[in-house]
Amino acid sequence: MAAEISRPVPLLEVRDLCVSFPSGGRMIPIVEHVSFTLGEREILGLVGESGSGKSVTAMAIMGLIDSPGVRITGSALFRGQELVGLPPARMRRLRGKQIAMIFQDPMTAFTPVYTIGWQIDEQIRAHERVTRRQARARTVQLLGEMGVPDPARTANRYPHQLSGGLRQRAMIAMALSCNPALLIADEPTTALDVTVQAQILELVRSLRATHGSSVLMITHDMGVVAETCDSTLVLYSGRVAETGPTDLLFAHPGHPYTAALLASIPPLDGPRPERLPTIAGAPPAPLDRPAGCAFDPRCDYVHESCRFVPPPLIPVGAGQEAACVLPTEGRPLSPRHVAAPTTQDAPA
Ligand SMILES: Nc1ncnc2c1ncn2[C@@H]1O[C@H](COP(=O)(O)OP(=O)(O)OP(=O)(O)O)[C@@H](O)[C@H]1O
Ligand SMILES: [Mg+2]
Repeated sequence: MAAEISRPVPLLEVRDLCVSFPSGGRMIPIVEHVSFTLGEREILGLVGESGSGKSVTAMAIMGLIDSPGVRITGSALFRGQELVGLPPARMRRLRGKQIAMIFQDPMTAFTPVYTIGWQIDEQIRAHERVTRRQARARTVQLLGEMGVPDPARTANRYPHQLSGGLRQRAMIAMALSCNPALLIADEPTTALDVTVQAQILELVRSLRATHGSSVLMITHDMGVVAETCDSTLVLYSGRVAETGPTDLLFAHPGHPYTAALLASIPPLDGPRPERLPTIAGAPPAPLDRPAGCAFDPRCDYVHESCRFVPPPLIPVGAGQEAACVLPTEGRPLSPRHVAAPTTQDAPA
C-alpha cells in the first residue's frame, strides 16, 4: 500500500466561493470563483477597488450575510471544517472564539449603551468559564497590550467617549479576547489619521508574534499591503485578478490591473509627482460585467481572446498566478489607447 503523504491542513482554505444576490428577478453574481489559502501565522492581503467584493467575501466566510435570497456556493474550510452552510448556532460558537472580525467602523462592533470593558468582559464570558473578576483582569491586560493608556479606567468608558484610534484598539482587543486563530480585518485603518494608521498596522503585524494569529487583511491600499502582508490576493469585479507572495507580485505584477494599482501608490520619499496616476474609468457594475475579462474596458493591453471568457488563473511565478492572457500570448505591440483613441481621450 502506498504510504500516505500527510499535508498540514491550512488554517483557511477557500475554494470556488461564489456569492450572488437576487435583483430584478434574477441572481446577480457579486463574488465569482474566489479561491485562496491562508496558512497558520500568515497575513494575507485582500485588495481591490471599492465594490470589488472584499467585504462580501469576508462576510460570506464569517456566515454574516443574512440578505434574503442570497446564494453562497463553494467551500471555505476552517481547519478542515466547512463554514459554507454551517448552521448559525455552530457558526456563532466559532465566531469570537476561533475566528474574529474587526470592522472599518468600530461603532459596528460596540453597542453605545455599555462600557467597552463590559462588552469585552461579556465576549470572554460567552466563550470561557471565568468569573467576572477574571474576565475584567483579562480585558484590562488586553487593552494594555493594545497600547490603550490607563486601561483599567478606559475600560469603564463608553464607546463614544473614546477617540477613533482608541475605539479601534478596543475593538481589536475585543476581537483578540479569546485568542482567535483567524482575524479578519476589514479596512481597519481607513477611518484613522496617518499616525494612528501606522500604529494599528504595527499592532496587526505583532499579533502573529504575541497571539500566533493569522490575518486576512482587507484593504484598498497597496501601501498597506506592502507593509503588512506576506501574500496578496487582488480582487477585481468579484474575481481574482492575481495572487501570490507580496514581494513577487510587487516586483513583477502579472496582471495589468495589479500593475495599475501599484503605479497609483504614492512614493514614500522623494518629490511627489504633481498628480498620481489613477486608473481611468471605473469597474463595471455587477449587472454589466462583460462576458470576458472584467478589466477589458480599462486595460491598455486588450487581446482578442480577452473578450469572450474570463481568463483563467495561470502561473506567472513561484506561487504567483494571474488571470490574464498576456503572459502566454505576449503583449500586443500597441496598447489600446494608442491604437484606437476613444472620444474620452480626445482633447476637448
Ligand atoms: N446585501 C447585498 N445585496 C445586494 N448587493 C450587495 C449586498 N452587499 C453588497 N452588495 C454589492 O456587492 C458589491 C461588492 O460589495 P462589497 O461591500 O463586498 O465591496 P468592497 O470591495 O468591500 O468595497 P469597499 O472597498 O467600498 O468596502 C457591491 O456592488 C455591493 O453593492
Ligand atoms: Mg468593504
